[in-house]
Amino acid sequence: NVESKVDSVLALMTLEEKVGQLVQYNGSWDLTGPASEGGNKEKEEKLRKGLVGSMLNVLSVEATTEAQKLVMENSRLKIPLMFGYDVIHGYKTIFPVPLAETASWDMEAAERSAEIAAMESAAEGVNWTFSPMIDVSRDARWGRIMEGSGEDPFLTSKVAVAKVKGYQGEDLSDPKTIAATAKHFAGYGFAEAGREYNTVHVGENELHNTILPPFKAAAAAGVATVMNSFNDLDGTPATASKMLQREILKGKWDFQGFVITDWGTISELVSHGLARDKKHASEIAIKAGSDMDMEGRAYEIALEELVKEGKVEEALIDDAVRRVLRVKFKMGLFEDPYRYSDPIAKKQLDYEQHLKEARDIAKKSIVLLKNEKALLPIKPSVKKIAVIGPLGDDKDSPIGNWRAQGESNSAVSLLEGVKNAVGKDVKVTYAKGAELGIGERSFMKPLKINNTDKSGFDEAIKKAKDADLVIMALGEDAYQTGEGRSRANIDLPGVQQDLLEAIYKVNKNVVLVLFNGRPLEITWASENVPAVVEAWLLGSESGNAIADVLLGKYNPSGKLPVSFPRAVGQEPLYYNQKNTGRPTNPVEVTYSGYNDVKKDALYPFGFGLSYTTFEYGDLELSSQEMDVNGEIVASINLTNTGKVAGKEVVQLYLRDPVASTTRPVKELKAFQLVEVQPGETKKVSFNITNEMLEFYNADKQWTSEEGTFRIMVGGNSKDLKKAEFNLNK
Ligand code: IFM
Repeated sequence: NVESKVDSVLALMTLEEKVGQLVQYNGSWDLTGPASEGGNKEKEEKLRKGLVGSMLNVLSVEATTEAQKLVMENSRLKIPLMFGYDVIHGYKTIFPVPLAETASWDMEAAERSAEIAAMESAAEGVNWTFSPMIDVSRDARWGRIMEGSGEDPFLTSKVAVAKVKGYQGEDLSDPKTIAATAKHFAGYGFAEAGREYNTVHVGENELHNTILPPFKAAAAAGVATVMNSFNDLDGTPATASKMLQREILKGKWDFQGFVITDWGTISELVSHGLARDKKHASEIAIKAGSDMDMEGRAYEIALEELVKEGKVEEALIDDAVRRVLRVKFKMGLFEDPYRYSDPIAKKQLDYEQHLKEARDIAKKSIVLLKNEKALLPIKPSVKKIAVIGPLGDDKDSPIGNWRAQGESNSAVSLLEGVKNAVGKDVKVTYAKGAELGIGERSFMKPLKINNTDKSGFDEAIKKAKDADLVIMALGEDAYQTGEGRSRANIDLPGVQQDLLEAIYKVNKNVVLVLFNGRPLEITWASENVPAVVEAWLLGSESGNAIADVLLGKYNPSGKLPVSFPRAVGQEPLYYNQKNTGRPTNPVEVTYSGYNDVKKDALYPFGFGLSYTTFEYGDLELSSQEMDVNGEIVASINLTNTGKVAGKEVVQLYLRDPVASTTRPVKELKAFQLVEVQPGETKKVSFNITNEMLEFYNADKQWTSEEGTFRIMVGGNSKDLKKAEFNLNK
C-alpha cells in the first residue's frame, strides 16, 4: 500500500534529500535551450542532485519531460517532480472566471469545466493546478473576488467539491487528471477594506462558520494539496499558523496531502515582522505545518542547519516529506514519472468539443438583472442594432485574468457573437465610444483608468440615434480584476458612465451588457436603463454565449453569487449578516446601514431574472418537529407562469434565531436547479437534516442546538416563503 511505499522511500533519504522534496522552483525558463541566467544553472544543478520536489510554470510536454529527465537520469533516488501551474478557469479552452461560473449554480458544469481543464493541462505535462480558489469574499473592492465563488460559504463549498472532483477524477493516477489545490488557507478573502494582501481581522466564530467550511469540504473530497495564504490572520500570518495548519487542517480534518506555501510566504514572515531572517522564518513555518516552499528559497538554505542545531526535530521534516511522497505515489509518478509526457495526448483531445461546452457553461453563467419594456429577448422587429462601448469588440477581456494558456484576443467578442446570431436582414453597427483606460493592456501592468478622452462619443451617438436597439458593452477589462487589482472605486472605469448617459439621451432602448470580475456600482444604470445583463468575463465563447441569451436562444438562469451594492461605501456587503441589537423591520432583511443610501443591496445574493416568471406556493413542512437523528421534508410548489420554459435556482435558507452565539439572519443551506415548462407546476422538496443546522458554537463545537428554526425558500435571498420547526435533541 501507499503508506509502506512512502516509508520505504523515506528510509533511504538523507536529510539533504528530504529538504529537497520541500523545495519548489519557478521554472519560467527554456529548459530545451540555454538557461537565460546564472540562476537557472543553479536550479538545474539542484534538479540533477534530486534536491527539488516540484516546479511551477514549466509548460509543455517537452519542457516538463526535460526537467523530469534531469532528476530521473542523474539523481540518486530518482524521486519524480510534480509540475504545478495556475489553471484557474481553463488551460487553453477558457471558461468563465470562477465568480461567473458560480453564477450558474450548476455544479455539473463546474465539475465538467475542471475536468476539461485537467485533460488539457495533463496533455501539456502539467499535472497539478493551484485551483480551486475557495476564499469566501464579501468585498467587491478586492481584486481577487473574481477568482472565487463569492460571499457564501455553502455555495463555495459545493463548488470546491465539484472542482476537486473535476480535476482529480476518481483516480489521481489517471493521466487525464491532475492534482488540485484548495487555496488560500485561510482568510485572504477578508483582507481589510478589500486592499490586496492586507491584514485580516476575524474572530474565531467567523473563521469557523464562514471562512473554513469550503476548505473542510475540499479536504473531505480528497483534495491533494492546500495552499496557505499571504495574509496575517489576527496576528499570525497563515504560513506561521500552527492553529490553521496543524490543529485544524492536519489534525481535526485529518488532511493527508501537503501544504504548499503561496509564493515566497516563508520569506515574507520577515516583512510581517515575525521572523528575523529566512532561517528563523523557516523554523516558524515548518513548525506551523507549511510543507513545501514555493520559490521562497528559504527551506533550502535553512532547514538542514536547523535540524542539525536541534532547533527543528527531524520528525517534522519527515512528516512533510511523507505528505509530498504520498501525493506523488497517488499520482502514479513513481510507477511512471513520464505519465504526463505523452507527446500525442494533445492531439487526441477534441478542442472543438471543449469550445462547445465552454459556450454552454458561459450562457448558463449569465445573470439577467433587469428587463423592462420587454426589451429582451431581442424581437424580430429589431432591424438595426448598434453595439457600443469599449468592450463591444474586445476579443481579449473575456479571456480574463489568470488565463493559463488561453491565447490573447482569442475570445468571440460580443459584436462577433451578435453578428453570428442575427439574420441577414439585421444591420449591426459598432462604435467603441471610449477607451477602457490609458496604456497597453498587460498582466503586469493594468491600464490607468483616469482617461478623460471623449472624442469617440460623437460617432457612438450617431450610431445609437440610427438604431432600433443599442447594446452597450461596458465594464472592466481582463486585468482590472485579479491579484493586485483592488479598487477603491467600483464604478465603470474611465468615461464609460458618461458614455452610457450620452447614449441613453438619444436612444432609450438600451441593453447594458456588463463585463466584470466583481460587482460594480451600477445604481444609475439600474434606475434608468431598461435592460441590464451581467455577462462577467465568460471566456473563449463569450460573445456567442451572450448572443444566445440576448436573442432568446437560451433563457437566462444565472443567479448572483455575490451582492451588488448601491454604493461602494456599503462594502463589505453580504446577505448573511448578523441581526445586531437594533434591527429595523422587517427583521430578516435589514441590518445596520448608512443615512445616505438604502440599507439593502441593489441586487441581492441569489438574484437573477428569467424570460419567464415563476410563482412560489406556500412552504410546507412534513412536520413541525424534527428529531436530531431524523429528517423533515420542506416542499414548495414552483409554477412557471410565463410563456417560455425556464430554469430556476430554488434556494433554501435557514436561521437559528436563538443560539449560544449570534447567528446570521439567514444562511443558504440547499439549492436545486429546476426546469419548468410554461404553465407547469413542479413540487420541489428538500430534506432537512441535522447537518444543515450545525455551526461552530460557544463551546467551540461544530454542532446543532435545539429549539426553533426558521426556514425560508425562494428564488433569491430576499423574496422568500417562510415556515418554522423545532429541533429536538
Ligand atoms: O497560485 C498562485 C497564488 O494564487 C498567488 N501567488 C502565486 C501562486 C502561484 O502562481
